[in-house]
Amino acid sequence: MHALITGGAGFIGSHIAERLLREGYKVKVLDNLSTGKRENLVPCPGAELVVGDVRDDKLVREVARGCDVIFHEAAVVSVPFSVEHPQETHDVNIQGTLNVLHAARAEKTKRVVFACSAAVYGEDPELPKKESMAPLPVSPYGVEKITGEYYLHAWSQLYGVETVSLRYFNVFGPRQDPKSAYSGVISIFVDRALSGKPITIFGDGEQSRDFVFIGNVVDANIRAATTPGVSGRAYNVGCGTRTTLNELLQVLARITNRPLPPSYAEGRVGDIRHSLADISRARTELGYDPKVGLEEGLLALVNSLR
Ligand code: NAD
Ligand code: UD1
Repeated sequence: MHALITGGAGFIGSHIAERLLREGYKVKVLDNLSTGKRENLVPCPGAELVVGDVRDDKLVREVARGCDVIFHEAAVVSVPFSVEHPQETHDVNIQGTLNVLHAARAEKTKRVVFACSAAVYGEDPELPKKESMAPLPVSPYGVEKITGEYYLHAWSQLYGVETVSLRYFNVFGPRQDPKSAYSGVISIFVDRALSGKPITIFGDGEQSRDFVFIGNVVDANIRAATTPGVSGRAYNVGCGTRTTLNELLQVLARITNRPLPPSYAEGRVGDIRHSLADISRARTELGYDPKVGLEEGLLALVNSLR
């Protein structure tokens, strides 16, 4: 089997690459290295890296040639960046996705698996989030992700390309880059905890997220690529538990055995308050079973960085 991973030099994509190579797939990666890094692919010596942009439709078609499955991970992933630069994130996150779908249709790729997001749910206070709820995104990023998902669904109906959309909740684990102001909160907190730098919480710290360890997310991707009869479907990928940022810091303080008093700053525009996945659809239809919980995952992350 041949797989293309767009964004495969990034955090999640490189872990998918590693797993696919172990399972005997031939793996190609398309990545513009904007946030991804060559070194993320060091554990994937068999992967072929093509440095290029998903906005380049000709290139996307070229790299898709001969692939049985595409994992479309490439995106600008930051919610606040999308609030500040909505045109740029539109171009990558919507046009880039459309280019992948055009390529899949033209090159007769069997299945496309899409990295969608819990950000599509927006501010509807009802919890947990179920896939049957009407999306109401409150950031350009959330709009872009649900648009991508709608395109996938249409492709599954119109052009014989099988598609599966995975609505990731807050993913964390080794190789998530902590260095940008836009990085995922766990990567920032762990980096700062281990280097003794101050930690800032935006808002009162009572906002909550369904944090999901990378191994669970890779498992969901493999299932989404290989389970028959699920084309056109969307699935939540979380753990089904939520943790506030204040609680997260307490767990981290315990694991690292350091006091981690945060400072509090103004909340971020476009931030959602609470996020929690109902994962029963993924359990039933994909056999998804997130085995690694927050504390075990945090411990694995901290140990990998020590
Ligand atoms: P990441 O930034 O590590 O990975 C994204 C990758 O895409 C990077 O390697 C980057 O260089 C590449 N990329 C960006 N723009 C590109 C372009 N125009 N052309 C080619 N490559 C490009 O982030 P990640 O956390 O691994 O995210 C992977 C996917 O999962 C993204 O689609 C993101 O929106 C989605 N997602 C992530 C989370 C999370 O919590 N990390 C949650 C929900 C959804
Ligand atoms: C994250 C992902 C997004 C994904 C979404 C799905 C990243 C960068 N973003 O968005 O791609 O689609 O989950 O649920 O991976 N915070 C602090 N201090 C910090 C950094 C963040 O308090 O130093 C707060 C934020 O204000 C927010 C929470 O932590 O309330 C989580 O932020 P972040 O990790 O950026 O994730 P999301 O915005 O939830």
